[in-house]
Amino acid sequence: MPASDQTRLLIVEDVPQVAQYIRGLLNAQARVKLLDVLTEGGRAIATINEVRPDVILVDALLQGRIKGPKLVEQIHEAKVGVPVIVLTVPQNPVEPNPAMGIHGVLSMPFSGFDLMTRIAQVRKDFEAQQATGTSRVMTVFSPKGGVGKTTIAFNLAVAMGQLDQRTVLVDGSVQFGDLRALLKVPADAPSILDLPTDRIAESDLGDVLWRDPSGIDILLAPPRIEMAEMLTARDVEKILSLLRRVYGVIVIDMSCQLNDINLAFLDASDTIVEIVTYDSTTIHSTIAIADTFRAIGYPASKVRYLINRADSAGGIDPGDLQRALGRVPEHKVVSDGRLVVQSNNEGVPFVLANPAAQISQDLARTAVEILDAGRVAALAGRH
Ligand SMILES: Nc1ncnc2c1ncn2[C@@H]1O[C@H](COP(=O)(O)OP(=O)(O)OP(=O)(O)O)[C@@H](O)[C@H]1O
Ligand SMILES: [Mg+2]
Repeated sequence: MPASDQTRLLIVEDVPQVAQYIRGLLNAQARVKLLDVLTEGGRAIATINEVRPDVILVDALLQGRIKGPKLVEQIHEAKVGVPVIVLTVPQNPVEPNPAMGIHGVLSMPFSGFDLMTRIAQVRKDFEAQQATGTSRVMTVFSPKGGVGKTTIAFNLAVAMGQLDQRTVLVDGSVQFGDLRALLKVPADAPSILDLPTDRIAESDLGDVLWRDPSGIDILLAPPRIEMAEMLTARDVEKILSLLRRVYGVIVIDMSCQLNDINLAFLDASDTIVEIVTYDSTTIHSTIAIADTFRAIGYPASKVRYLINRADSAGGIDPGDLQRALGRVPEHKVVSDGRLVVQSNNEGVPFVLANPAAQISQDLARTAVEILDAGRVAALAGRH
């Protein structure tokens, strides 16, 4: 049976007899693999992030420091992207309510058949809901280096995660892997190269992705420059189409060149967030890249311009930039050297470290605007 057909289950249950009963039901089959039974809620979120189950079963009557309903709420708020089945008894009725993180209910007593069908149904519904064509791939790109791509990509991804989007950030800067340094990831942390390219399954992702404390998943670049050569454009296509099935939002941080790999990232993107700044070379390179995109056949609406450090025009007339872009830039983010440097040095997103700062609000607004534009485009595409 392919690994992705098998459902990986995590149970949070403190009554040994109930846990034993479920183990017994699962023993005789291979469709559901029991990863673990946690007897209290305290470490549940950490374990979910670590083992990445497909479905979680939580006893509504769980006792201890974190009671059952509280744990379901915590799992929902942690946006782990895994559906929850609540196990209850007839005296304690619970209604399924996906908006509150209750994707299914199983009332005791239940048979092996009840258990298996509920698990399969909840997983299927959840995946269908995630894959309704709303998944958005966006590349943060610029023909110029050092304009803030990595900073913006990281904070934009976290801001989108805060909007209840299951989000993954891909380090598409495959040679230099800026995110490894930014997030202080251990040198041996797996990278995009550790995904099997012949047949990638969703279950492979859990072993390779870096779970950032900011709540988003990160697909890291290889740890060494020369290893980047092992990645092909075809790998990029396959990896992105897999990520689309699992994530609502995929943000890619890119390097500046237009090589095969970067074109694969750009081709697969719904939106290119092109960073521009007020400096004299930007105007030149922005026109050059707009010509190239036109020649490739990208519609103008695929690109959304973001002016970074928009409050420091540095002698450039904003009107000149606007004329070069051929339109009013869609997004603006102010400069905040102190906050950006401090957050980047600590490897934390400023949108969480200081949400009230103007730059954080700019990013949060940009996240909403990009997602809204994406929804409109998706609706238009369907008609
Ligand atoms: N809005 C901002 N306000 C203040 N400083 C910023 C802002 N955006 C970026 N920076 C600073 O600019 C520098 C470059 O940022 P970053 O590394 O994100 O750029 P990049 O485009 O990813 O660079 P590269 O081309 O090397 O990948 C960093 O030191 C960062 O702290
Ligand atoms: Mg960078």
